[in-house]
Formats: sequence, C-alpha cells, structure tokens
Amino acid sequence: MQIKSICCIGAGYVGGPTMSVIAKKCPEVRVTVVDINEARIDAWNDKNYNSLPVFEPGLAEIVAEVRGENLFFSTKVDKAIEEADMIFISVNTPTKTYGKGKGMAADLKYIELCARQIAKVAKRDKIVVEKSTLPVRTASAIKDILDNTGNGVQFQILSNPEFLAEGTAIQDLLNPDRVLIGGDISNKKGEEAINALVEIYGKWVPKEKILTTNVWSSELSKLTANAFLAQRVSSINAMSEICEKTGADIYEVSRAIGMDSRIGSKFLNASVGFGGSCFQKDILNLVYIAKSYGLNEVADYWEQVIIMNDHQKNRFSDNIVSTLYNTVSGKKIAFLGWAFKKNTNDTRESAAIKVADNLLSEQANLAIYDPKVKEKQIYFDIENLESRPISENKKYLKVFEDPYKAMENTHGIAILTEWDEFKEYDWEKVYQQMNKPAFLFDGRGILDKKEMERIGFVYYKIGLGDESNTSLK
Ligand code: NAD
Ligand code: UGA
Repeated sequence: MQIKSICCIGAGYVGGPTMSVIAKKCPEVRVTVVDINEARIDAWNDKNYNSLPVFEPGLAEIVAEVRGENLFFSTKVDKAIEEADMIFISVNTPTKTYGKGKGMAADLKYIELCARQIAKVAKRDKIVVEKSTLPVRTASAIKDILDNTGNGVQFQILSNPEFLAEGTAIQDLLNPDRVLIGGDISNKKGEEAINALVEIYGKWVPKEKILTTNVWSSELSKLTANAFLAQRVSSINAMSEICEKTGADIYEVSRAIGMDSRIGSKFLNASVGFGGSCFQKDILNLVYIAKSYGLNEVADYWEQVIIMNDHQKNRFSDNIVSTLYNTVSGKKIAFLGWAFKKNTNDTRESAAIKVADNLLSEQANLAIYDPKVKEKQIYFDIENLESRPISENKKYLKVFEDPYKAMENTHGIAILTEWDEFKEYDWEKVYQQMNKPAFLFDGRGILDKKEMERIGFVYYKIGLGDESNTSLK
C-alpha cells in the first residue's frame, strides 16, 4: 500500500511541525494540514516566516522549503479528508472542564468530532492515525464510530503517539529516539496499514528505531513516557527543597546521580516547576484511568507528581514574598520569561502563570519580559486567574519589550524561563537600576551565585541553601 496523500487534522504544535518534516522527507507525498481555526491557518500561510503560529528553531526554514510544493495548510477539512489515503488526527485533548471526570479525564470531544467527520466524508478506504495523546483504548471508540457509517468504507486505525518536545521539535522529529506505531496485528489489513506508516518514517528514520506494537501498548506507552519524565522533574525538585534546608547543592547532587548510567543525566534540572500542555494533563488522565479501574494506590502514586509540582511553584512565590519582608504589595517585581521552557512561544501551564497569580493576589506589580511570547498571549493567560479579574490584573501586570525597562526600579527579579539571553545581560547595569537591597530569584538556576553576589544582589537559586550552612561546623 503506497501512500500518496496525507491529511492531518489539527495545525497545532504537533500537527504543524510533524507534517512539515514528513513533507520534507517524503517529497512524493502530498501533505495537507487542516484546522478549523482560520487565523491559525492564515498564520501558517503567512509570507513572513517569522509569523508562523508556532515558534520552533529550524521550523520556518523547513516550511519555507516545502510549503506550496507538497505541504499545504487549509481550512477545507472535508476536501482534505476525501483526498487522503492516510489521515492523522492531531487535535487537542485537554483536561475536561465539565461533567464526569472534570479536572482529570481527557476531553475527547475533538477526537470524536474528527472521527465523525471522517466517517461522513470518506468514500474510499483510509488509514486513520491517532497522533494526539489519548487514554488507553480510545482506538476502539474511534473504530466503533468509523465502522458504523454504513457506507462500506474500511478503516484501519493506528496509534502513532508523538514524543517531540517543544523547543527541540525539529531535531526530535528528524532524529527521534524511536517512532512508535501501534496497530491491529491480528489481521492482514492491519499489518498493511502498519507497514504503510513504517514506509513513511522509514524515509529518514533507521528501521531499528521504528517499533511496532499492539494499539493499547502504543497508547499507554505515550502516557507512561510523559509520566516518567514529569516524575523525574518532581523528584529532583523534591530534592531541591531538601538541599535548600541542609546545605547540599542540587546541581552537585544532579551531577552525582546522573553519572550513574542506570539513572542517566537528562531531565535532572531543578526548576520552579514543570509546565507545558501535556505533563499535567497526561498524568491527570493516567490518574483518572487508574481510578476508573479501581486502582487507587496507582492513582495516588502518580497524583503525587502533580502535588509536588504545585508545591514547587507555590514555594517559589512564597519565598519571594517572605524574602521581600513579607509584603510585595505595591512593589514592582520583574519576570524574566513567561514561556514554559526556552525556545518556544508556548505558555500553556507555564509555572510563570501560577507564580504571577500568587503574587498578584499579594498585590504586587508585575513587569513581564519574554523574548518570544506576545503581550496578547500573556493577557490571555491571566484572564482566568484566581487572584483578580483581568480588568484589575491588567493594571498590575505590564508587558515589556525591553528587558532592562522591565527590570528598572524593581524590588525583585524572578527568572521563570531558562532563555539563554538572560545569561548575557549586563547584570551590573540591572543592579544599578534596582531598589536596594536588590533581590534576584533564579527559578531556573542559570546564573552564577558568586558573580551575582559580587555585583551586590541578594541572590536566591533554586536548590541552593545558605552558604553558611555548608561548613562542617
Ligand atoms: P494544539 O492545541 O496546538 O493544536 C490542536 C489544533 O487542533 C488546534 O489548532 C485546533 O483548532 C485544532 N482542532 C481541534 N478540533 C478540530 C477539528 N474538529 N477539526 C480541525 N481542527 C481541529 O495542540 P498540540 O499541542 O498540537 O497537541 C495536539 C495533541 O498532541 C494533543 O493530544 C497533545 O497531548 C499531543 N502532543 C503534544 C505535544 C506538544 O509538544 N505540544 C507533544 C506530543 C503530543
Ligand atoms: C514533553 C516531553 O518531553 C515530550 O517527549 C512529549 O512529547 C511532550 O511533553 C508532550 O507530550 O507534549 P515538552 O512539554 O514540550 O515535552 O517539554 P519538556 O522538555 O519535556 O519540558 C517540560 C517541562 O519540564 C518544562 O517546563 C521544563 O522546563 C521542565 N523541566 C524539564 C524541568 O523543570 N527540568 C528538567 O530537567 C526538564
């Protein structure tokens, strides 16, 4: 079975970059990415490649190369479905905000809508690929909807979860650790569908890195990978608090444990807490699944990863308040960074939002600077804060395009994202412009404590306690 035409439903952080790379690596395949969000599609089609809706290093170059050749962005969903041999579903699967499973389960309404639309439009056999992250056994619901169209069209359902991380999406797609494809290995048609997708990835991914499994293993492996990764961050963050109390240094501890080849050195950076659209949502989903099978101990075990992460964000803002003499009311505090990690413009679940919420509740004035996040997005993010309505928060939270202006006349600076440019700032100049004592809270551990203290800052680094605590006396 040779695939000549691919459609991807959902032109977001996954659909856009993934399809760009497939189009680049498979010039003989016509790839159409569709979305109901017209503004998003317009942005993907923008002549100015700096205006693409997703910022990812290397993405604009690939889009420039293949867009209009074999990569197309469109709002004509039905047409793209009809023309495609293979359809990727890459729509959002957020946490439910209503009804049963509210605040925990994945909301599958967008997935179901896609399945129904495919069922309605398709006139010939298709392979449908789950690219979105889904609860284990979702494929059976999709199959049920597709198989009940009554028009005799045959569908093969594959699970092909995406493991890219934002900020490194293009590298992750070009050189994946593995590609996972789950399918129905019990019948010939299922096997053919798996092979068709293997062929696509095989254009650039070594065959030994393409794993094929049954559908349920594939769906569950995605949730498991995210749970393990998030658990590592919560584990190192838990240790960072012990370090601050005892005089141990989390950076030394990370290095020491990371050299154990069984533990490995990646994902051991203590931080103000993990963010991003998926870790929290996927773990909550896992907790929900465990609970729905009555596996309460399993559910409690994974829920603790989220509890620890919330604690880390709260204790960072608590520390700012207590260090600034127990009041930040009317004080100007600058935030360096709003994105949930560097090299992305994505702010979903960013730790900065929770820290801002806590400080706004304490009536602080916040000055935000992020190299890639637009003012509009930041105001959107604070619309639903618990602290105050947006009309009021807008008075207390200002967004700056110049970091030095953001940091002028502040009582404190908080680093929320690890953007490289923050390391290069003229920190002497920043210090001169601040109220004294000049407090600097490094939630990403990117600056040098000795150097900052030499300049005159009162410097707090996540995972480092008071130096007087380190002597043996
Ligand atoms: P996103 O919100 O950026 O994009 C999803 C897009 O789907 C939106 O533009 C939305 O308008 C569109 N959409 C929703 N319903 C539609 C419909 N019926 N027809 C057409 N378009 C529709 O989401 P994302 O970050 O790309 O994530 C998509 C999925 O991939 C999620 O399940 C997520 O868990 C998973 N995932 C995300 C990442 C990541 O880094 N963001 C990584 C791996 C997996
Ligand atoms: C994560 C996974 O890494 C991807 O494999 C997965 O595909 C994706 O989720 C998804 O399913 O959405 P992403 O959230 O884009 O990718 O970025 P990560 O690099 O995993 O970082 C997540 C959060 O953890 C960020 O806030 C980051 O700053 C934080 N983090 C990460 C730490 O605080 N310390 C670390 O050592 C690593």
